[in-house]
Amino acid sequence: MADIAVFGASGMIGSRVVDEALARGHRVTALARDRTRLPHEGERLTVAAADVLDPGDVSSAARGQDVLVSAVGGGDSRLVEPSARTIVEVLRCLEDRPRFIRVGGAGSLEAAPGKRVWDTPGLPEDVLATMHAHGDALEFLHGVTDVSWTDISPPAVVEPGERTCGYRTDTHRLVADARGTSRISAEDYAVALLDEIESPRHIDERFTVGH
Ligand SMILES: NC(=O)c1ccc[n+]([C@@H]2O[C@H](COP(=O)([O-])OP(=O)(O)OC[C@H]3O[C@@H](n4cnc5c(N)ncnc54)[C@H](OP(=O)(O)O)[C@@H]3O)[C@@H](O)[C@H]2O)c1
Repeated sequence: MADIAVFGASGMIGSRVVDEALARGHRVTALARDRTRLPHEGERLTVAAADVLDPGDVSSAARGQDVLVSAVGGGDSRLVEPSARTIVEVLRCLEDRPRFIRVGGAGSLEAAPGKRVWDTPGLPEDVLATMHAHGDALEFLHGVTDVSWTDISPPAVVEPGERTCGYRTDTHRLVADARGTSRISAEDYAVALLDEIESPRHIDERFTVGH
């Protein structure tokens, strides 16, 4: 059993990560700023209000954990890179450093040889900003050697759906099916994230998942 803290625990992806971790018997600390949107505390579930940009909050949340997951951001591109930086800087100050797992973005993945997802013509400005913010966060992590990290880039679409436990992975190419559809349910994204916690295969690197 691992101790896992999840920032963004009231969000679409973070809430599924909390559910999947609890279902597998781990001890979970669910974190977000608005405590009223978090689930009620229960057996193996602790709940706390915390801001991922506040080093004191992150430090309190990270102490004693085996893994710190960050699934913050939603559509707020301004949160993406600074939150990764704050978490790493706080973890560097801890003697026992939890592993950092970040929910990343699809933008920097290869959509075709030599072409990244963010090169796709016609993407809206706010989507592009979030994609590049995730790219900046990943670039920052690539320079981090003293904190164990993994960045899990979603496919193009993540949405609530079924937990099938079926997914494919790649390290740098967008995972898509034969028709070019790139998606995963948030439930299976959480399955992949917990699989990586329980059987680490991507220490200090990014990988991506999709159906
Ligand atoms: N295709 C893709 O590349 C793709 C697809 C989906 C998601 N994503 C990425 O996955 C991440 C999660 O997405 P999502 O859709 O699950 O997000 P979401 O549903 O909007 O949830 C965001 C979570 O972050 C929390 N949060 C926001 N600001 C915070 C702060 N300062 N401190 C602590 N918690 C904060 C929110 O709770 P509070 O507001 O109460 O704090 C909420 O729990 C995002 O980074 C998103 O860009 C990428």
